[in-house]
Amino acid sequence: MTSPLILGIETSCDETAAAVVRDGRVILSNVISSQIELHRKFKGVVPEVASRSHTTRILPVIQSALREAEISATDLSAVAVTHRPGMIGCLLVGISAAKALSWLYDLPLIGVDHIHAHIHASFMADPDMPLPCLSLVASGGHTALYLVDEKETVTQLARTRDDAAGEALDKGAALLGLPYPGGPAIEEAARNGDPAAIALPRPRFRDQSLDFSFSGLKTALLYHLRGPGLSRPMPTLSAGEVADLAASYQTAIVDCLIRQMRKAAQQHGARSLAIGGGVARNESLRERITTDPVLGQIRSVFPPLDLCSDNGAMVAGIGTRLWQAGTFSGLDLEALATKKRSA
Ligand code: KG4
Ligand code: ZN
Repeated sequence: MTSPLILGIETSCDETAAAVVRDGRVILSNVISSQIELHRKFKGVVPEVASRSHTTRILPVIQSALREAEISATDLSAVAVTHRPGMIGCLLVGISAAKALSWLYDLPLIGVDHIHAHIHASFMADPDMPLPCLSLVASGGHTALYLVDEKETVTQLARTRDDAAGEALDKGAALLGLPYPGGPAIEEAARNGDPAAIALPRPRFRDQSLDFSFSGLKTALLYHLRGPGLSRPMPTLSAGEVADLAASYQTAIVDCLIRQMRKAAQQHGARSLAIGGGVARNESLRERITTDPVLGQIRSVFPPLDLCSDNGAMVAGIGTRLWQAGTFSGLDLEALATKKRSA
C-alpha cells in the first residue's frame, strides 16, 4: 500500500485548522488559526461570528498547511474534513472547502467525526496503546467517556447531563473576573491558590451512572460569591481570593473527571487511558491521572497540547484510518450539528 498523504480540515468550532499528515502519524504541518481574540469580549463562542470568520481564514490556512508541508494539492491522497458534530455554519465552511478541493483535484473526500478525531489524537501519539482504551474527551462543547474495544469500535459510556467541563471552566472564570477561555486562566490563577479554600459540591447520581454534571458546581460558585438567592452584589475579589476560588473550582472539576474515569476504567477493564479536547491540556488533570491509585496503574497517553484542542492533524489522522478502510464520502456529504448516537 502506498504511503497516504492526507489533508485534514477542521472548522467545527472556533479554530480554523488544516494539517497534512503522512502515513497517519507524521505531521508535516498543523496550522491553527484561533478566533479566541474575536470571542473574548463575549466570554464564549458566538456561532455566527465564528462561521463568518472561518470563511475569511479557511483558504489562507489550507494554503499555509500545504506550503509548510512542502507539497501541492496534487500530491494529496485524499482530503478529510470534520462534518459532525459542531456548529452547523462553522462545519459548512470546512466541508465546502474540502468538497471544492476534492472536485478540483479529483481527490477522495472523507467525512470525519470530530469526537473520533479527538480520541484518535492519542493513538497518533502512541499507536501501540493496548485495548480496550478508556478515552475522556473534555472540551468547551463536549465531556464524555468512550471505550475503544479490541475491534477499535468506539462506544460512548457516559456524557455530561448539562454543561461540558470546559464550559464550566469558562463560566466559572467569568464569575471570577478572569478572561476567556476560562480553562487556562483558571489553571494559571489556581497555581497560587488553596484547593481546599471553599467547599464545592461533587455531584453524585443515584443510579451508579458514569455521567458527569457540572452546572451545580457553577451555581455553587455563584452562590458563594453572591449569597443564597443572589442576595449580595458581586464582591470585589483580591488576587489571593481569586487564586483560592480558582484552585477550589478547578479541583472540584478535576475530581469529578477523575472519579468517573476511575469507575469506568474498573468497570470496563481498561488497559490504557487517553485524553483529548481542550481540557486535556490541563496540567492538574494530567498529574492527577498519573498519581491516582487506580488510573496511575494504567498506561496513559497525554497527546501534545496542539493535538488536544481542535486541530487538523487529528482529522487527517483518523482520515487516514478511514482511507485505509476504503470509507469515503460523496460530494453530498452533510454537516451534522449533533453526533451519531453510536459515536
Ligand atoms: O477542544 P477545544 O479547543 O474547543 C472545543 O470546545 O471544541 O476546547 C476549548 C475548551 C475551553 O472551554 C477552554 O477553557 C478549555 O478547553 N481549556 C482548558 C485548558 N485549555 C483550554 N481547560 C483546562 N485547562 C486548560 N489548560
Ligand atoms: Zn473539539
